[in-house]
Amino acid sequence: MTDKRSKVTIPDLYAMVERGEPISFLTAYDYPTALLEDRAGMDMILVGDSGAMCLLGHTSTLPATMDFMVQITAAVSRAASRAFVVGDMPYMSYQPSDEMAVRNAGRFISEGGADAVKLEGGARMADRVQAIVDAGIPVMGHIGLTPQAASMIGGLKSQGRSAEVALELLDDAEILEEAGAFAILVEAVPARVAEVIVRQASVPILSIGSGGACHGQLLIVHDILSLFEAFTPKFVKKYTDIASPMLEAFQSYIKDVKERRFPAAEHEYRIPDEEWRRLEKAIEEDA
Ligand code: KIV
Repeated sequence: MTDKRSKVTIPDLYAMVERGEPISFLTAYDYPTALLEDRAGMDMILVGDSGAMCLLGHTSTLPATMDFMVQITAAVSRAASRAFVVGDMPYMSYQPSDEMAVRNAGRFISEGGADAVKLEGGARMADRVQAIVDAGIPVMGHIGLTPQAASMIGGLKSQGRSAEVALELLDDAEILEEAGAFAILVEAVPARVAEVIVRQASVPILSIGSGGACHGQLLIVHDILSLFEAFTPKFVKKYTDIASPMLEAFQSYIKDVKERRFPAAEHEYRIPDEEWRRLEKAIEEDA
């Protein structure tokens, strides 16, 4: 296991790959969740644009804005004293031009305190990756199911299930690596195809739904806690159901308020007796 206290760096991630230690990676969008993930020993945290869905209730990631992403990234970075934080570049924050990509990636680092950024797309995004890396900012590539391009790739569906598309993914991974990506996230790709990507790569290949041969595993925190209800991808493992105890707590609170069991004496502030007598006297004199 890597050192539990000091900040995880890119060389640490490469060392983990070298010694065959899988990298643990989970999303977070807020300070208290990131604090617990960090305390648990998570290696990497992704501040995903999936926050638009998990936190804000949108039906896609597209409405995430730079201001929203930078603000939640800063909250996560403040909590992550050890985990390596990756800020997810939202829709249209990098697609229009290299310059826009570099400026927005810079905001994730300077305002958001992130250690790296992630952007979606393979070969067609190579210039953006290279421009950001040239500006001194580490970039994680993201291929396979790329939610920002959902309408182009036929929806939120597994990718690379035909030989042609699988070959394109292999090319994408190679080109992103050549452009300077320090790691590549592969989403919802058949495990056998991801295994070939891993074999050809010399950077860490991280999986979300792409099988156990990858160098690390990412999931969405709201999925593993059963807090996201809209749909559950095949690759999700639910580790607990915190929705049920939350619902029970809310129902108990409502009942306590309605039945005047809350607040009890221990939840109330006290005024010293002497001050109370002075107050009563002043009110009497005023009347
Ligand atoms: O936004 C996000 O959480 C992501 C994952 C789905 C990979 O990009």
